[in-house]
Amino acid sequence: MNPNTPDLFGDLFPEPKRASTLADGPISRVQALRSQLHHHAHAYYTLDAPEIPDAEYDRLFRELQALESAHPELLTPDSPTQRVGGQVLDAFATVTHRVPMLSIRTETDTEASGAEAFDTRIRKELGLTEADSAVEYVAELKFDGLAMSLRYENGVLVQAATRGDGETGEEVTANIRTIGQIPLRLPIDAPAVLEVRGEVYMRRGDFEALNERQRQRIAAGSKGEKTFVNPRNAAAGAVRQLDSGIAAKRPLSFFAYGLGDITPQSAGGPQWQTHFDMLQQLKTWGFPVAEQTSRMQGAAGLVAFHQRIAAERDALPYDIDGVVYKVNDLAQQQRLGFVTREPRWAVAHKYPAQEEMTTVQAIDVQVGRTGKLTPVAKLAPVFVGGVTVTNATLHNELEARRKDVRVGDTVIVRRAGDVIPEVVSVVLDQRPADAPQFTMVSHCPVCGSLAEREEGESDHRCTGGLFCSAQRKQAIWHFAHRRAMDVDGLGDKLVDQLVDSGQVKTLADLYHLKLETLSNMDRMAEKSAVNLLEALDKSKNTTLGRFLFSLGIRHVGEATAKELARHFGQLDAVMAASEDALLQVADVGPVVAHSIRTFFDQSHNREVVQALRDAGVSWPEGDALAPTEMPLAGITVVLTGTLQSMGRDEAKEKLEALGAKVAGSVSKKTHYVVAGAEAGSKLDKAQALGVPVIDDTGLALLLSGQKP
Ligand code: IVH
Repeated sequence: MNPNTPDLFGDLFPEPKRASTLADGPISRVQALRSQLHHHAHAYYTLDAPEIPDAEYDRLFRELQALESAHPELLTPDSPTQRVGGQVLDAFATVTHRVPMLSIRTETDTEASGAEAFDTRIRKELGLTEADSAVEYVAELKFDGLAMSLRYENGVLVQAATRGDGETGEEVTANIRTIGQIPLRLPIDAPAVLEVRGEVYMRRGDFEALNERQRQRIAAGSKGEKTFVNPRNAAAGAVRQLDSGIAAKRPLSFFAYGLGDITPQSAGGPQWQTHFDMLQQLKTWGFPVAEQTSRMQGAAGLVAFHQRIAAERDALPYDIDGVVYKVNDLAQQQRLGFVTREPRWAVAHKYPAQEEMTTVQAIDVQVGRTGKLTPVAKLAPVFVGGVTVTNATLHNELEARRKDVRVGDTVIVRRAGDVIPEVVSVVLDQRPADAPQFTMVSHCPVCGSLAEREEGESDHRCTGGLFCSAQRKQAIWHFAHRRAMDVDGLGDKLVDQLVDSGQVKTLADLYHLKLETLSNMDRMAEKSAVNLLEALDKSKNTTLGRFLFSLGIRHVGEATAKELARHFGQLDAVMAASEDALLQVADVGPVVAHSIRTFFDQSHNREVVQALRDAGVSWPEGDALAPTEMPLAGITVVLTGTLQSMGRDEAKEKLEALGAKVAGSVSKKTHYVVAGAEAGSKLDKAQALGVPVIDDTGLALLLSGQKP
């Protein structure tokens, strides 16, 4: 949130001006913070549409808390610090919690020392000395969803309420009943009155699937649909659905972690001694309790739990933002009591946030080793998920456009575990007025070759191939490959060194390497250098097929390269061939033909070929395959109707590759009419003229060089 834009929020949450003797600094800052926090609490709690990450909100909140405690005279009853956010929407009934829903103190120190500080405080407040044994705790996960109170009377779920401000919440029973994990009826041994408190949340997989469905709805033109920023936002939206039919389609989950109102022991209620026993009982009554929930002894136990969960965190199917420690013994809990709205016996111990906010300074296009072009958002450095992030991939043009990330935008960045950082969403109300939409480059930013996206693919690619320095190493490995130019002794490590040291810039440079240069490379004995020079020399005598394969033209594999060599006989003929001429080659379809043509159309690729020839690379040139040598030379075929074995285009391509002429109409000169299902007038004409008519089987014979 940009602190210089408080006017954005002034309309909704004006902050009253008051006279003060204090310097202007803290007053105006306190006012700015309050109006921002009001704005974001409204966006988050009431509209279910947060604009900034939680960590950013927390920071603003803590800054305000700090200012208010330094200047108590500025504190007002309506400050956001004095109530926990969450307005009750008019349309839901209001529920007064019989036992208030408390909040929990947060230990902001994300290191192990945070756990130690809590244990120290507990021991002090319980009056324990070093001679006393370790305090027993229950360590739980801190789920990132929303708190829910479930009221059961005589074993039946009668009411589900959100936390609201802790005193009153919203009645959302109809929506909560749609959550399969929540029991609607309890076993006979449950007390007459039982309020179970826990967290409603959405699993990450469910969230991704929901967003995918939402995207499809939006794409199909459905109005009023939106995607969700994160699982918690989606869960909150579902719980607040006025239409529980819609809520039912939003897959929610639940974990129990505590109690509210309950039949007192004196009236026959349960006799638990510990928090842990209570959770075990809830489990037997059908409530989900996280399996990680553990009893831990003293500070060392808490630290161990914090570390264990930190390692497991990214593998969990749902988001947590920390762990919670609770004193296990209920009698001890009672002795510790409460401060304002927080129990002294519990604390939340956080992990570094996985989502943060930053700005996009540029959108670069990077070239991968295979020529794939990837748009990457260059970010103002931001600490997220435990590391400083400066880059986030936007994957490809479609993805960049879908997220509509622009230079100058404020964005929410997520980094979970070792997963590469990604831009989750754009904070639209902070977009500069002139931010231009992202467009993909038309040429490779590294070598200037044409950038192309093939039909049906989402990635753009540089067509520079061996000319492009980003693809240089890959191109050289490929060139030297045993089935390409077969340069023995030119391994990956050596290619890395030769390219990194600038000794090899283009393929032809390989043939100008000096013994001295090679001997100076790491792990290169003079003997191996001599051997490599010999291997390079030997590789100069090659075949056209190997040479064509070694160029690394996209889609031109070993077999296609051989076929090109056989068909055209000479390199110049291949380089000059039109796409139509290329289509005559066996196994060459439109995509391959286009790729070959694009490759040789670029002058720098022709230059690389020339440089290799100048360096002495040569092969015996042959003649183009004479038409008469082809098995179907001189044969004219007409195709009609729907064939079973292949499409008509494919049949045409295959016939032509074998030298046949495929004509559009039937005449006396036609040798065969291949007729599939629903053949029409051409079949009639063939019959009238007495031209042989064959079917799929006959075609197969023809293509295998036999007479049908
Ligand atoms: S206990 C008396 N346990 O964190 C303590 N809360 O401010 C009441 N939360 O929004 C809360 N996981 O919904 C507790 N294992 C857990 C929790 C948990 C998540 C949420 C809770 C509330 C906030 C506490």
